[in-house]
Amino acid sequence: MAPGHLLFSLHIPTLTILILLLSQTGNCCFTRIFCFGDSISDTGNYLKSIGDGYHPIRYLPYGETYFGRPTGRFCDGRLILDFIAEAYGLPFIPAYLSGNSIEDHLHGANFAVGGATALNNSYFESKGIEASWTDYSLGTQLEWFKKLLPSILEESGCGSSVMRNALFVVGEIGGNDYNHPLFQGRTLDEVRTFVPDVIRTISLTIHGGMF
Ligand SMILES: *[C@@H]1O[C@H](CO)[C@@H](O)[C@H](O)[C@H]1NC(C)=O
Repeated sequence: MAPGHLLFSLHIPTLTILILLLSQTGNCCFTRIFCFGDSISDTGNYLKSIGDGYHPIRYLPYGETYFGRPTGRFCDGRLILDFIAEAYGLPFIPAYLSGNSIEDHLHGANFAVGGATALNNSYFESKGIEASWTDYSLGTQLEWFKKLLPSILEESGCGSSVMRNALFVVGEIGGNDYNHPLFQGRTLDEVRTFVPDVIRTISLTIHGGMF
């Protein structure tokens, strides 16, 4: 890791929150945040992805404590990501799927999707596990980031150096890789064998996001 990279790993039951801070200049002046993850960090992608489909987060009491309306967050108020954005004086980071133009992403983008797994659906299908949830796994989220990146670099006018002041938040991700199979009656012993693959996928994504 280059100087200035900080890696925090915070463990809460069955979930791992992994926050990667990328900065050459210290942690004082982030101008953009990019986030990858699942419902713990989703600020609207899942809801956008299902169109008019039914989901409880479309209704109160989701959002009632802070926003006063549902916002696509799996929460009654702000998420950890929202507090991080506030702490750096940035606006809340908009969901990638809700963005219409590069102007919506001047301060970053949130690629996290509720229900997302680190491993992709092909992995689960190869194990005979029905992958009926969102296929916006970590690999897809990284593809979204790579798709958005050229316009961010172009808009900023300062090439890849613009990323020096970007904060990357990777997490929470990985919990659903265990939840989904467990809900389908898979044993803890079997699900435990996925752990190295989950960790490898998260690590590869973090390295793949570095350029
Ligand atoms: C799914 O992930 C595997 C690695 O675990 C990768 O080889 C494969 O290309 C991915 N498939 C899709 C459809 O993204």
